[in-house]
Amino acid sequence: MGLFSLTQELAIDLGTANTLIIHNNKVVVDEPSIVALDAHTGKVVAIGEQARQMHGRTHQNIRTIRPLKDGVIADFTATELMLRGMIKKVKTTHQLFTPSLKMVICIPSGSTNVEIRAVRDSAEHAGGREVYMIYEPMAAALGSGLDVEAPEGHMVIDIGGGTTEIACISLGGIVCSESINVAGDVFTEDIRSYMRQTHNIRVGERTAEDIKIAIGAALPELDEEPEDYVITGPNIVTALPTTITLSYSEIAYALEKSLIKIDAAIMKVLESIPPELYSDIYKKGVYLAGGGALIKGLAKRLSDKCNIPFIVADDPLRAVARGTGIALKNIGRFSFLMR
Ligand SMILES: Nc1ncnc2c1ncn2[C@@H]1O[C@H](COP(=O)(O)OP(=O)(O)OP(=O)(O)O)[C@@H](O)[C@H]1O
Ligand SMILES: [Mg+2]
Repeated sequence: MGLFSLTQELAIDLGTANTLIIHNNKVVVDEPSIVALDAHTGKVVAIGEQARQMHGRTHQNIRTIRPLKDGVIADFTATELMLRGMIKKVKTTHQLFTPSLKMVICIPSGSTNVEIRAVRDSAEHAGGREVYMIYEPMAAALGSGLDVEAPEGHMVIDIGGGTTEIACISLGGIVCSESINVAGDVFTEDIRSYMRQTHNIRVGERTAEDIKIAIGAALPELDEEPEDYVITGPNIVTALPTTITLSYSEIAYALEKSLIKIDAAIMKVLESIPPELYSDIYKKGVYLAGGGALIKGLAKRLSDKCNIPFIVADDPLRAVARGTGIALKNIGRFSFLMR
């Protein structure tokens, strides 16, 4: 960058659960998509990890908000405040001037025009001068190291916090796709209701998420078994503390009804893939990205069900951000980027 070039280039993965920013090929922001606001003035108290620490622990003067729900913006003002705060965390090389921002930001493949506009407006209000958008499965494929422009079929599944997106890609375009609102947040909720119904114990969102990350499984029997997980919480009836030891098989049971919905959506995409592309995918496998790809035994469950190899992408939580970063470097070349 020359002395007078005041453009800062950012790739942003604005996710329901996490927001990542890539600048100069490095992940410079990786924080939960949460903002804490002063309930009276509406001023930002904290964003990201700091706000997450407060989530579920606030009093009447502080409100924590997760501004995205099911992959889309649910609270426009909070999204903008959060995005501004996250962009501020990126250190600028220019102390004197506010650089003009060029950014690539990803959007769910099922987005409506209104939802796409909401993301663009948020990005522009947060300082974006030149804003490009990329569909999330395309970013996930790029970030998984796939040559999306080649005349061959690729299939990716991105299981995030709010949405699961399944897409078949060839020649730089999405051939067919499905997007469902069953992903990490629903898994967490499944665990909470299982704990209520089966163990008569109340657990908060954070604890349920911790359980999911530690022992969340897609199969009742795994080759590598995680250790049991012990939690303490209030009994629903007596409010007295209750301690429960949980096994991963129980969690696999709790997640089953949601996993079945994901299986079904995958089958739907597999059914609509043109035969030539299908055989490419059969040979190369299906790539899993997003935090949900880390559910233990998920790749094996799907491989067994579909008789196609399923491969978890490297560092799946960052695959979409990596892909968005690759798109940023190829703005002039990739025709699938939208202005
Ligand atoms: N090891 C793990 N096992 C299971 N789930 C995990 C693990 N690590 C993270 N997750 C879950 O992954 C989800 C976050 O994934 P990711 O960051 O890909 O979502 P996102 O991009 O913010 O959401 P979306 O793409 O739907 O907008 C959360 O629900 C989180 O609980
Ligand atoms: Mg995502």
